[in-house]
Amino acid sequence: MSLPAASHLDSLETPSAVVDLDVLERNLARGAAYASKHGFVLRPHVKTHKSLFVAGEQLRLGARGLTCATPFEAEVMSSVCNDLLIAYPPAGTVGARRVAAIRPDVQLKVALDSPQVLEVLAAAAETAGRKIGVYVEIDVGMRRVGVTPGGDALALAQRIGKYRNLEFAGVAFYPGHIRGPIAAQDDELADLAALLNATLDAFDRAGLTPPTVSGGSTPTFWRTHELPRITEIRPGSYVYNDRESAGIGACTIDDCALTVLATVVSAAVPGQVVINAGTKALGREPVRGEHSGFGQLLGRPDVTVSRMSEEHGILDLSKTDWRPEIGERVRVVPNHVCIVTHLNDLIYGVRGDKVERSWPVDARGRGFKPIS
Ligand SMILES: Cc1ncc(COP(=O)(O)O)c(C=O)c1O
Repeated sequence: MSLPAASHLDSLETPSAVVDLDVLERNLARGAAYASKHGFVLRPHVKTHKSLFVAGEQLRLGARGLTCATPFEAEVMSSVCNDLLIAYPPAGTVGARRVAAIRPDVQLKVALDSPQVLEVLAAAAETAGRKIGVYVEIDVGMRRVGVTPGGDALALAQRIGKYRNLEFAGVAFYPGHIRGPIAAQDDELADLAALLNATLDAFDRAGLTPPTVSGGSTPTFWRTHELPRITEIRPGSYVYNDRESAGIGACTIDDCALTVLATVVSAAVPGQVVINAGTKALGREPVRGEHSGFGQLLGRPDVTVSRMSEEHGILDLSKTDWRPEIGERVRVVPNHVCIVTHLNDLIYGVRGDKVERSWPVDARGRGFKPIS
């Protein structure tokens, strides 16, 4: 049974993921305006929302294409966008074939960091009879994926020319190691700028100037224009934001669009109450910096989720006089919003205390085929 539009927030079951539409709209507009002001191609990462509705809004506001992490995200997003980047190496024949089978009229790009993935992707592209653009992923300090900038990156880019179904489409990097407060990023951004300049100069000298230099994250989003030669940005979390982003100053707590609506279910143990949002609603995501806990209450920053079981979240009341009744509802600003999206099938969009709409988390899960 569906809920009528304009239902009151109180009519929603809990725990549920609730997005403040005014905040979402503001975040989307701010991101689009920044990209346009600095002449960047905006290719938002859909991992944060996994939703056709939000992707549609990003495209409507000027995003040129979308970034995906999983083949399923790309399959789902191919229904609204014909320019997709899969920023994850599709290693192995099964994964590469699935990627190459994305709708043929999609301009597909893949970021990778090894000759092995290049080889398997080329074979899959050949089988599918399509062209795939390749971004060479470089490691700029996160030490997760990415070839060492310099000779290794250039050598990988040069190999792409061996395969007739692949073309060198650019260089990609993810500055995920830069997570300090915005104002304290100067040194790390200067190091990153020097690294990019040296790497891209080497590409230029080899006659292989990358058509695209793709970077960006939410923590560094608003300072991307201080970096050299970037043409494309891939922010993800900026649409919803979270406690982590607010903690480092990439947004304020008022810019956090998504909260978990939960109900107080127990007040039996003194000094705390229990809500029905535990790890299966919030994830067990740590928060960096001086903060602690697994989320904080909207409008009550002194109340945090201090401990969790799967379905229980313990609210620490030691810093507040507030004593909620059993049945009272709260909204938790999660530490890491992308995990919360991934834990939900449906998102409710609210304006004030009215539920205006809902949308599915379309690309949730892997989209694997069952055995018949
Ligand atoms: C490759 C890549 N690009 C872009 C992003 C977006 O980062 P953020 O959510 O910080 O904006 C991520 C996030 O994990 C990523 O892994």
